[in-house]
Amino acid sequence: MEFDADSFVSQCRAANRSGTDPINAVRDVVDEAVSRAAEILQVLPASGEEEILLYQSSDLTIYRVLVFQGLQYPPHEHGMPVVLGIYAGCETNLLYARLKDDHHRVKQIGRIDVGAPQVTVLEDHVIHAVTNSHPEPAAALHVYFGNLSLQKRSLWTLDLDGEQQFDLQSYFARARLLELATYRYK
Ligand SMILES: [Fe+2]
Repeated sequence: MEFDADSFVSQCRAANRSGTDPINAVRDVVDEAVSRAAEILQVLPASGEEEILLYQSSDLTIYRVLVFQGLQYPPHEHGMPVVLGIYAGCETNLLYARLKDDHHRVKQIGRIDVGAPQVTVLEDHVIHAVTNSHPEPAAALHVYFGNLSLQKRSLWTLDLDGEQQFDLQSYFARARLLELATYRYK
């Protein structure tokens, strides 16, 4: 059966309204979707635009996101929970926390490596940066629990400094291409 992006959006919206645990309900929808990764790839291939907005309202924002090989994006927060369903490739989420003595700066506190098909939930307080050191692009469905473009949230530099209000132009400008031969994750 072919993946239907509109039907996926409808299922996420219904799950979000379905009861007392909308995050887990949406997680189940995303889990089922990425278990049929080959069907998603026919409709949303791991090539082309880095971000495709599939849906946005006051209570949900849904993107298809690609992370190409060797790119590292800067640390940022969402200010809302997100369900991430990777359906092609692998990526790494580097996790950060604000310093206790300098609330505007962050330090790395962990990492999560994910490979398709896999679903991850990040809570609303999480600060993360995404990178991909693998040869293939990573492709994922992101379901945010709010209107992401209206959310006031922060972005840092790759040097873990320079907190500023998130905007897409700065986000892409602060990304860097890793030198994969020499780069090592902490
Ligand atoms: Fe993010």
